[in-house]
Formats: sequence, structure tokens, C-alpha cells
Amino acid sequence: MDLSTTYLGFQLPHPLIPGAGPLADDLDMVRRLEDAGAAAIVMRSLFEEQILLEETTTFAVTEAHGNSQGEAGSYFPPADAFALGPDEYLEHLHRIKRTVRVPVIASLNGVTPGGWLRYASLLEEAGADALELNVYALATDPNEDARTVEDRTIEMVRAVRGTIRIPLAVKLSPFYTSFANFAHRLDEASPSGLVLFNRFWQPGIDVEELEVRRELHLSDSSELPLRLRWLAILSGNVRASLAATGGVHTVLDVIQAVMAGAHAVQMVSALLHHGPDYLAVLRRELVQWLEEHEYGSLRDMQGSMNLRSCPDPQAYERANYMLMLQSWRAP
Ligand SMILES: Cc1cc2nc3c(=O)[nH]c(=O)nc-3n(C[C@H](O)[C@H](O)[C@H](O)COP(=O)(O)O)c2cc1C
Repeated sequence: MDLSTTYLGFQLPHPLIPGAGPLADDLDMVRRLEDAGAAAIVMRSLFEEQILLEETTTFAVTEAHGNSQGEAGSYFPPADAFALGPDEYLEHLHRIKRTVRVPVIASLNGVTPGGWLRYASLLEEAGADALELNVYALATDPNEDARTVEDRTIEMVRAVRGTIRIPLAVKLSPFYTSFANFAHRLDEASPSGLVLFNRFWQPGIDVEELEVRRELHLSDSSELPLRLRWLAILSGNVRASLAATGGVHTVLDVIQAVMAGAHAVQMVSALLHHGPDYLAVLRRELVQWLEEHEYGSLRDMQGSMNLRSCPDPQAYERANYMLMLQSWRAP
């Protein structure tokens, strides 16, 4: 069965990719991921704050976040809280490149279109085959409108696009007022791919200690539908290739993501839970499912459930919403 797909311009044997996270921290694990058939590997992120902290001073970090009182600096983790410092990251990337043959995607994570973005070139020089730019930011400033927030991200993407030759993917959150419009404006800045969606930190409150909780919960399949919706809306309507991230755990999750329009399917929680060999299991199950359903190839089902020919996705959404509400019956 032909599972091949094209993502970020790479011809991949299948769409299954370990997403950004701790999996690629360890060279042995990187080898195991390749042995299990990973189509590409995404490294964890190097953060804007880490780069600023190392290069300048805490003051620069607070400036980047527009906090002239200097309080923001006290929130940031110390340099030794990060698994890899900026130099170590470049070295580790170099080592991974010497270890595996699959495309290696480095990741930068930040919010301002500043000098730290020169790391994009350093990552390219260190051998990254592509770069994922994660723009994790929460718009909390009541004086800043949506357009300003979006323009800043687009400016970042243009800045990086202008300095590297390798493919650039942008990892986004779903929290934009008009996501379809933003994705189209972003697409004009020519990223090679969009990765949907970032998973935000979900705060909880320890009511006894009066502290904010910071627990990391792995995802489950219930997080996938949000991704399916936007993959289906963007599929066929943007030039960038599309990756799903968030809530992909089973072969049916993979199939749904591909039907909605994903060219690649990233997984972190599932691989942390089941181990790297789970990639091979999913790949086998994918072949089996496609054969049983008489598809000639993965491409035959790619985007088959997208909303490209839907004349009014907004009306379609509301119709499904109303039907869903009306469908409830007392047990
Ligand atoms: C332990 C852990 C570390 C992560 N680190 C990063 C990171 O450095 N950069 C990034 O863009 N995403 C990071 N993520 C988010 C994942 O790449 C992914 O988008 C998210 O977990 C949703 O996918 P999943 O449902 O397959 O886990 C991390 C996730 C986990 C669980």
C-alpha cells in the first residue's frame, strides 16, 4: 500500500511523525524512532527567552515582553531549567543529523520578531532539514487589537522566511478571532507548512496552597476534533502543507486527520505513552484499514473530507451544531 505523502516539500513514505517534545532529546530514542519508521523527527523547541537570557540579560527578556517594571523576568525559568541550552541545542541537532537519515525538523518557540530569530539561520547551518516556528502567545493586553497580534506573527514568519532556505512550518494555536483569515494572511508570507494546533498550558488552582498548578497532562483523542475542523476548512485553500498535532492516538485518529486534509500527522503523547514502536503498529494498522476499505493509496483519501467544495462552512457548522443539540434524547 502506498502511504506516501508530501509535507514541507519532503516526499515522505507515510505521514507519521514524532512531534516536538522530549522524544528526540536522547540519541538512542532517536535511533529507535527511526527504526520504528518515523517519517521525520521534530525536536523540542528552543525558546526566545532562553536565547535572550543567554545572550544578554534578564532585562532584555522583560523588554521583549513589554514589561518595563521588570517583573516579567522573575517568571521565567532559569537557564538550567531547560533540557538543552542554545549551544547544546545546536550540538544536539548536529548529533541527530549524524545519527539518522530521516528529515530532522528543529523548532523555535517565541513571540517577538526580534534578533533572536537569527537562530533560524544557525539551526539551518547546524543541519536542520526544516524549521518549525511555534508562536505560543496569549493575547492578554486589552489595548492591543487582534490585527496587531496577528501582524506581529506574520512579521516573524516573514523575517524567518527571508533568512533561511530550508522549509518553514508555523505551529499555531486555534485562538484567533478569525482563524481562516489569519491563516490566509499567514499563507501569503509563504511558510511551507502550518501545524494545527499548539496545546496551551491549562492552569488549575491548588485551593489549599493558593497556588497555580502546573501539571502536564498528556492528550487524548478528544482533542482531535478541533484540529479536524480547521484542517478541513483550510485544506485545499492554502498553499502551505498541513500537519495535525494534538489528540492523535489511534489509527482512526490518523485516518480522520488525513481525510480532513493533513499531509503529516504528528504525535507526542501517544508515543510517550506507548513507546516508539507504536509508530510501526499504527503504520501496519493504517495499511490494513486502507486495504480493507479498498483505497489505492493514502493520497486517495487525503483531503477527501475537507470542506473545499462546501459553499458555506459557517452555515454548515451552525447546521451541525443545531442538529447535534436537537439529537439529545433522555436516557
Ligand atoms: C512533554 C512535552 C513536551 C513538549 N515540548 C514541546 C516543545 O518544546 N515545542 C513544541 O512546539 N511543542 C511541544 N510539545 C507539544 C507537542 O509537540 C504537541 O503539539 C502536543 O503535545 C499535542 O500533541 P499530542 O496530542 O500528540 O501530544 C510538548 C508536548 C509534551 C507532552
